[in-house]
Amino acid sequence: MGQNCRPPPVLDRAAIAVLATLLASSFVSVSSSSSNVQQARFAANTAGKATSAGGQQATLVIGNNNGGGAAGTTGSFEEFVAANVESYNVNKQIYAAKLKNGTGVKSVDAALSAAEAGAARYVVSADGKGRFRTITEALKAVPEKNKKRVILDIRPGTYREKVVVPYTKPFITFLGDPKSPAVIMWNDTAATRGKDGAPVGTVGSATVAVESDYFMASGIVFRNHAPMAAPGAKGGQAVALRVWGTKAAFYNCTIDGGQDTLYDHQGLHYFKSCVIRGSVDFIFGFGRSLYEDCAVVSVTAQTAVLTAQQRTRSIAGAAESGFSFLRCAVSGAGQIYLGRAWGDSSRVVYSYTAMGKEVVPVGWDGWNVARPERSGVYYGEYRCTGAGAAAQHRRVAWSLVLTDAQARPFTGTHFVYGDSWILPPPKPA
Ligand SMILES: *[C@@H]1O[C@H](CO)[C@@H](O)[C@H](O)[C@H]1NC(C)=O
Ligand SMILES: *[C@@H]1O[C@H](CO)[C@@H](O)[C@H](O)[C@H]1NC(C)=O
Ligand SMILES: *[C@@H]1O[C@H](CO)[C@@H](O)[C@H](O)[C@H]1NC(C)=O
Repeated sequence: MGQNCRPPPVLDRAAIAVLATLLASSFVSVSSSSSNVQQARFAANTAGKATSAGGQQATLVIGNNNGGGAAGTTGSFEEFVAANVESYNVNKQIYAAKLKNGTGVKSVDAALSAAEAGAARYVVSADGKGRFRTITEALKAVPEKNKKRVILDIRPGTYREKVVVPYTKPFITFLGDPKSPAVIMWNDTAATRGKDGAPVGTVGSATVAVESDYFMASGIVFRNHAPMAAPGAKGGQAVALRVWGTKAAFYNCTIDGGQDTLYDHQGLHYFKSCVIRGSVDFIFGFGRSLYEDCAVVSVTAQTAVLTAQQRTRSIAGAAESGFSFLRCAVSGAGQIYLGRAWGDSSRVVYSYTAMGKEVVPVGWDGWNVARPERSGVYYGEYRCTGAGAAAQHRRVAWSLVLTDAQARPFTGTHFVYGDSWILPPPKPA
């Protein structure tokens, strides 16, 4: 049960036409029909992050264009929802125009389509039958600032290595076989000491860290097998996969760990038909991500928290951040919270998701946010099913049951602007 928030402002047709033109030229300035003018634009790059793909990185900035764009004006979830609904409506108009025009609905961004033409393949096989025995060696062979897709054809087997896909190497694909997936595993925790003798911390504990843009993986198991997931064991952050680059897609992958399994660090991400297993805060971070047809499984007999979406009003560009779960299944051991607020504006929506009886009746937890109902925390559910779904229970009063209009922006790949970058996984060789 929850309150519904104020309906978003509705754009008139003339405004949409103007917006459509602007958005089509990849720079959009959105004015809402309300007196409170908002601006949304695709910036060429993210401040502080080296451009690895010719400045094509798209970042949605929503705010009053006062520089950072975040403080003050982007705090309320009404604005977040309104911005999403607007963006959805604008895109719908563009698609309709393109369909009518016969120009095709999908328009992959220029850097990506150039990269896909002339992709290279490297065979990686732990048994020595490929060009490389380890993923790390294969990544070393990729030229710096590559402009072409490089597909690492990773043969079935266990790869005991800690892997970093550096930000200077975009367009990397880890291609495994979903029927016999390659397993990449390591066992660092936040407390593990690095070469300098200092603890590596949560960020440094990742088995696989993806720092570059346009990453893709299919049929891969990302595992952190530090022994803290065992019942009764002391906890510890142990990341299996950390994704920092934007425009990353994962198909038929398993992300397997305990506490802090998947660091959905930042950027636009798409997880399709994946299995994500963990215990506390096991999907966490600042990403703007769609999880579609995924199984999210608690592995602890105690209390699991599926998400700790990180969003604080003061973070510049924070409006672009949020997790959407679409047609997923939530199950597992112990009792499960759908999310807890990492920061005062944490944002998570579950739609058409099957929720097991393990989901606690209250659903959500405010963590350190004293008055979530007064903050920018936005936790919503839409047409979920099962014994743990909102319809069966009294949720915390500050969570929402979304209306159709409110849910629409979250229930498709448009949530992550997927038409400009989501491509299917490559065919096996
Ligand atoms: C319609 O097609 C023309 C010619 O291909 C193109 O110049 C124009 O940009 C297209 N308009 C839209 C809205 O796609
Ligand atoms: C996932 O794997 C299954 C089984 O191999 C396959 O049928 C399906 O097409 C794959 N899905 C995607 C999105 O690649
Ligand atoms: C992690 O794995 C390595 C290599 O298999 C092993 O030597 C080490 O003891 C393991 N560390 C822990 C904490 O289990």
